[in-house]
Amino acid sequence: AIAARIDRPLVLVGMMGVGKSTIGRKLAQMLSLPFHDADDAIVEAAQMEIAEIFDQFGEAYFRDGERRVIARLLDGGKSVIATGGGAFVQDETREAIRKKALTIWLDSDVDTLVERVSRNDKRPLLRGGNVREKVEAMKAEREPFYSQAQIHVMSDAGPHGAAVNRILEALE
Ligand code: S3P
Repeated sequence: AIAARIDRPLVLVGMMGVGKSTIGRKLAQMLSLPFHDADDAIVEAAQMEIAEIFDQFGEAYFRDGERRVIARLLDGGKSVIATGGGAFVQDETREAIRKKALTIWLDSDVDTLVERVSRNDKRPLLRGGNVREKVEAMKAEREPFYSQAQIHVMSDAGPHGAAVNRILEALE
């Protein structure tokens, strides 16, 4: 079985709206591993929503909390960890992840990302202005980092099951 050969945490990286949390949860279920969502862990630790943390303390403070929460999750044994879209762009956080985890870049086209992030208003970095332009610019800027992940999987529009299967195949 694949699960038996996995010897480290699996970390999902990629853009906001690509489906890291949903796909991560399903992947964990398939592999009978615990699932952790880094953003949820930050919200729990701070007792504040992500947008509130950004508004009250700024992005640098959020990134510091994110780095610490991810370090703790990486030391928590085998699991599937979904990270926020900016985590793997931060040098220290990315290096910690690369050192300790098997990394998976979940990728979608801009249309799919825009459609998915437009479902709610939880993302402070996309507020105001043209969401498509922001997503496009951010994707281009971040790809050099995301592409440092070991596995690259497309997550197309529609159900997330296909991406889960692609990851399972890549792990075989
Ligand atoms: C961010 C992505 C968000 C969250 C925060 C910042 C980013 O997570 O961590 O709003 O910089 O891309 P999702 O990728 O789960 O939306």
